[in-house]
Amino acid sequence: MDERYWAERWQTGQTGFHQGRPNELLVEHHHRIAGDRRVYVPLCGKAVDLLWLRDQGHEVTGSERVSLAIEQLFAELGLVPTTTTWEFFRLHLTPRLAIVEGDALLVDVDILGKVDAVYDRAALVALDPATQVVYVESLQRVLKPGGHILLVTFDYDQARLAGPPWALGAEAVQRLFGGWCSIEKLGERREPPGPRFVAAGVDDVSEAVFLLQRR
Ligand SMILES: C[S@@+](CC[C@H](N)C(=O)[O-])C[C@H]1O[C@@H](n2cnc3c(N)ncnc32)[C@H](O)[C@@H]1O
Repeated sequence: MDERYWAERWQTGQTGFHQGRPNELLVEHHHRIAGDRRVYVPLCGKAVDLLWLRDQGHEVTGSERVSLAIEQLFAELGLVPTTTTWEFFRLHLTPRLAIVEGDALLVDVDILGKVDAVYDRAALVALDPATQVVYVESLQRVLKPGGHILLVTFDYDQARLAGPPWALGAEAVQRLFGGWCSIEKLGERREPPGPRFVAAGVDDVSEAVFLLQRR
């Protein structure tokens, strides 16, 4: 999905992925990354999770390419960031919460530095399978050895409906991360299918959460 696709979704308010409260799986499993100081939240939208993580004591950096999402995020938080422009990015800074505006696939240590943990909810699954490989390479560039990835995935019968969200099972997690991370599945639960899924005859939707640790 290209930049225009996501910009149009934000402009037309098609943001059903946005949850107005911290993600339940994050809250349930956060203790596994509680000791990690710097947390990166790629493809962050205006997720409430950013502020929740900051309030748990982390230094949080999100990345998001749609400026409208970032404007809404800061407006809803009542925060006014200090903004600087880099070659491919704009960096919006507030105390212990920063947003890198630009293509997350290009994120590097130059703009982000090294992070202790990544929290991925609706990021990997927002990208088509070919782009997922490029995204994972971007995480490899910034995650410290021993660092964690708390990954929330989404699975359903992809033959019935095209992404996003793209279905992602344990095999795909192994293929994308097995070469450089240990993988622990922390849990899985059925999700009520949304209207798009029901219309396509998809009634079995599940969300799983994995803790990955870079070797
Ligand atoms: C499915 S939404 C998930 C947002 C957020 N993680 C949440 O849980 O609400 C995916 C977000 O990624 C953004 N996005 C898509 N491709 C991107 C890219 N290459 N770089 C940065 N952001 C991107 C979209 O604009 C959108 O806000």
